[in-house]
Amino acid sequence: MGSVSLVSAAARRLEGKVALITGGASGIGESTARLFSKHGAKVVIADIQDDLGHSVCKDLNSQSTSFVHCDVTKEKDVENAVNLSVSKFGKLDIMFNNAGIAGVAKTNILEITKAEFEQVVGINLVGVFLGTKHAARVMIPARHGSIITTASVCSTVGGSASHGYTSSKHGVVGLMRNTAVELGQFGIRVNCVSPYVVPTPLAKDFFRLDDDGIHRVYSNLKGTVLKAEDVAKAVLYLGSDESNYVSGHNLFVDGGFTIVNPGFSMYA
Ligand SMILES: NC(=O)c1ccc[n+]([C@@H]2O[C@H](COP(=O)([O-])OP(=O)(O)OC[C@H]3O[C@@H](n4cnc5c(N)ncnc54)[C@H](O)[C@@H]3O)[C@@H](O)[C@H]2O)c1
Repeated sequence: MGSVSLVSAAARRLEGKVALITGGASGIGESTARLFSKHGAKVVIADIQDDLGHSVCKDLNSQSTSFVHCDVTKEKDVENAVNLSVSKFGKLDIMFNNAGIAGVAKTNILEITKAEFEQVVGINLVGVFLGTKHAARVMIPARHGSIITTASVCSTVGGSASHGYTSSKHGVVGLMRNTAVELGQFGIRVNCVSPYVVPTPLAKDFFRLDDDGIHRVYSNLKGTVLKAEDVAKAVLYLGSDESNYVSGHNLFVDGGFTIVNPGFSMYA
C-alpha cells in the first residue's frame, strides 16, 4: 500500500458514519452531502424536491447515498427518514437539520400575515424540533451522535431578514442549547452552524440577486466570498470526531459580520 492511499484513508474524516441531511437536494445541504460523501459517510438526503434529490444521489455513490421524500413539517415524514437511515445503513451518527425557507420578503410587521409568519416558523423551527426529536430517539440508545442545525447570522442580529425568519433562527439556537443540555448525558452533541449570505436559490430569490450580486453584498472579510462549500466544511467539523467535546455551540461562518459595530469605523 502506497503512502498516498494511506493519506487519503486518513483524510476521510467521516469514514463509517451515517448522516441524514434535510434540505440536502440544494444549496448548503447539497454541498454538505457531497463533502460528507467524499469523507466516507453514508448519506441520506431528505427533501421535498424529489428529482433534484435523486440526481444528487445519482451523482454520488448510489451504494452509499439514498434519497427520501420528507417534508420536515410532517412528523411522519421525519420519523420515516430517520428510520430509513437506520434500516438502510444500520445507525444514525449525524443529523443535519438544514431544510429552511426565507419566506416572503416583507419587512413591515403590519404587512406580514399570521400564515406567512407561521409558514417560516413551521419549516425552520418546528421542522428542526422534529428532526432533533427523531434523531435523539435513535441516538439515545446508541449513547452517541451529533445533531447540527443550520441557523444563520439572523440567530443573533436583527434587521437582516423577515421577522419570521429571524425569530425562527433565534428559536433554533434556543432549541439547540436546551437539547445540548438534555442530551449530553447520552453522549449526544448538539450544535448550530450560522452562515452569512451564501449564493443559493434561497438567498438569490430573497434578495432578487444573481451569484455576482450576492458576492457584492457587504462582507467584513475582504478578498474572499462565502460559498456553500465553506459552510459544509464547518458542518464536517461538527459532524466529525474532531469536535468530540464541542456541544451547545453556535459556529458562525460569517467573516466577522456579526461582531462588526457600524457605530465605530476605525478600519474603514
Ligand atoms: N443561503 C444563505 O444565505 C443562508 C444564510 C444563512 C442560513 N441559511 C440557511 O441554510 C439552510 C439551507 O438553505 P440554502 O441557502 O442552502 O437554500 P436552498 O433553497 O438551496 O436549500 C434549501 C433546501 O430545503 C428544502 N426544503 C424547503 N422546505 C422544506 C421542507 N418543508 N421539507 C424538506 N425540505 C425542505 C428545499 O427543497 C431545498 O432543497 C436554511 O436553513 C437557510 O435558512 C442560508
